[in-house]
Amino acid sequence: MALANTATTTSPDRAAGAGDRPFGPASGLSCRECGTRRDLGPDFACAECFGPLEIAYDFGRVTREQIAEGPASIWRYRSLLPVPKDVALRPNMAPGWTRLVRAGNLARELGLRSLHVKDDSGNPTHSFKDRVVAIAVEAARNFGFHTLSCSSTGNLAGAVTAAAARAGLEACVFIPADLEQAKIVMASVYGGRLVGIDGTYDDVNRFCSELIGDELGERWGFVNVNLRPYYAEGSKTLAYEIAEQLGWRIPDQIVIPVASGSQLTKIDKGFKELIALGLVEDRPYKVFGAQAEGCSPVSAAYKAGHDVIRPVKPDTIAKSLAIGNPADGPYVLDIARRTGGAVEDVTDAEVVEGIRLLARTEGIFAETAGGVTVGVLRKLVASGRIDPDAETVVLNTGDGLKTLDAVAGRARPSAVIKPSLDAFRTAIA
Ligand SMILES: Cc1ncc(COP(=O)(O)O)c(C=O)c1O
Ligand SMILES: [Zn+2]
Repeated sequence: MALANTATTTSPDRAAGAGDRPFGPASGLSCRECGTRRDLGPDFACAECFGPLEIAYDFGRVTREQIAEGPASIWRYRSLLPVPKDVALRPNMAPGWTRLVRAGNLARELGLRSLHVKDDSGNPTHSFKDRVVAIAVEAARNFGFHTLSCSSTGNLAGAVTAAAARAGLEACVFIPADLEQAKIVMASVYGGRLVGIDGTYDDVNRFCSELIGDELGERWGFVNVNLRPYYAEGSKTLAYEIAEQLGWRIPDQIVIPVASGSQLTKIDKGFKELIALGLVEDRPYKVFGAQAEGCSPVSAAYKAGHDVIRPVKPDTIAKSLAIGNPADGPYVLDIARRTGGAVEDVTDAEVVEGIRLLARTEGIFAETAGGVTVGVLRKLVASGRIDPDAETVVLNTGDGLKTLDAVAGRARPSAVIKPSLDAFRTAIA
């Protein structure tokens, strides 16, 4: 679909420095449904069938050594992303290369032999969204957009406003008005405009699609709408990092949270690319999707054996995952079924238990989305769908400080005493 936007493409020289290709190894856009190709541009839907467009590549030779020589950020994988070679020299957030924690205590508690937590709370704005935004910023520059925008369930808004501040772009981001206070603070502190909409995320997203077609939104880069093919590629870096941090091995099983489903589909794409490039051994792996029961359209379709997702109205404390009509839901179903994984959901009470379990065993404080993945992991182990002897990775995609209310109810000091030994002895007796 050609957009109403009349953004101009800056010359490669201006965008990325002489001799460098502004989109690196990307060779075009390709329709996920019918394979129709088109040139790289701010487009997101196929002109033939309205299917989603994704980036096609012409990868050269990529070696583990080349990657290892790169910076400790997603830019070590720049030869696998739609960005120029010199991307790391720009004023950007340089997200990624977050820790992969060997979670021995949690593994023991759950009865697993080998478990790692990929902890993306360590990104610049404390969620995995910095990865996707970093790629979208490059595309926005190349297409000459002056304003960075998005529809967000919370984390994306903060990642966009922070990245815009650093890149010298305007920002105007849209969220459901009833988000957690910390998400609102984080999305507004970096400057730019933050607009709360009286409605669900799906209402916000519909509104943004309208805005793109209006002259008001002209020359705006909506990272998850008209820049979505570029944005989505950022999630592949989670797959690359996990494999590299495991010693260039794909885990046997991985549990990933699902909102729109973009992250899960791109992690699968990342693993497949590593196999195709000969960077890892070609072994089967299982992908598991995790949702909160109060917004579980993908899990419901999976359990019912359906290919079509029936949209829902979200009602859960896992607000970052509260997308009732997930764009990539059907692809999540395909991947879970093709790899022998599953999509499962947990109640809000189980989300809170998941947050507490991860904190108590591994010292990692997850936001509600992390409570969802840990809760689902526990459920999958209990029902025998996760093999306890196989290597497992679970994702924590955001920081617990952003969703304090989920666990604040029972949080208080063990005792409040006068500063004296006697008072302390009495208190702990
Ligand atoms: C913390 C967190 N984890 C996971 C997701 C899911 O991302 P996706 O929409 O790519 O499925 C989101 C989306 O907003 C998020 O904020
Ligand atoms: Zn198509």
